[in-house]
Amino acid sequence: MTTEDKNSSPMRADAAPFTDRIGILGAGRAGTALARAAATVGIPVNIASSRSPSQMKYHLAQYAPQATAVEAKDIGTGVSLVVLMVPQDDLDDVDVGSLAGLTLIDATNRWDDAPLPGWLEDGLAAGRSSSEVIAEHFHSSRLVKALNHISHWDLDSDSSTLQTQQRALALASDYKADAALVARLVSTLGFTPVLVGELAKGGLLEPEGEIFNQVLSPAQLRTLLHES
Ligand SMILES: NC(=O)c1ccc[n+]([C@@H]2O[C@H](COP(=O)([O-])OP(=O)(O)OC[C@H]3O[C@@H](n4cnc5c(N)ncnc54)[C@H](OP(=O)(O)O)[C@@H]3O)[C@@H](O)[C@H]2O)c1
Repeated sequence: MTTEDKNSSPMRADAAPFTDRIGILGAGRAGTALARAAATVGIPVNIASSRSPSQMKYHLAQYAPQATAVEAKDIGTGVSLVVLMVPQDDLDDVDVGSLAGLTLIDATNRWDDAPLPGWLEDGLAAGRSSSEVIAEHFHSSRLVKALNHISHWDLDSDSSTLQTQQRALALASDYKADAALVARLVSTLGFTPVLVGELAKGGLLEPEGEIFNQVLSPAQLRTLLHES
């Protein structure tokens, strides 16, 4: 697969399907919706929350029955990437070392009234996107901003429909190979991945951006991004 990172390029959809095991950190609305979407296309999932696997047993039986519960400290073990799906105000509780050396999808969003860790507040106050600041915090991981601008409802309901096949999901990263890996995941989930560029452009995917929560074709997504 090749990736182009200029002018919000669509990424090639002819790559082999993504079949590796993924880790999802956060077993709430977003994390379990992604786990269910992954299960429908045969992607195995390890999932963790702030609770132990035994404490999550009944929760997962209902919301992500095919996912394997693991301890949060082990979420990076035996997976080819980890998806960060915890509230940003809880990021101080995530062990940076447990994600070292991994492709890390930052699927988190900032909400206006949510209290944030000091390092994140400081970075945002300096005018940086949350993904840039989060990438710096998780300095030993290779961060790709993705899967944050689709709601958990849409991850569930749109899966494997024609509409989803045409729906574009954006990603931003400073790491081309990791962006390509995530693009393959996004494509296997049934969406069209569009690389918007380096992580500095990650702000375009965030809640105040034009594409947030919008059902867009790749062409519509690129148009909105170019106008932003
Ligand atoms: N909801 C959406 O539609 C959506 C879509 C895309 C992205 N997002 C983003 O995804 C993130 C989660 O949103 P959500 O709606 O799923 O929230 P949520 O329903 O409140 O779930 C949050 C999950 O994070 C877990 N968690 C908190 N701290 C943790 C830690 N230190 N280690 C491991 N797990 C931890 C919680 O575990 P416990 O249950 O054990 O406390 C819970 O399972 C947010 O950043 C949000 O912006 C949400």
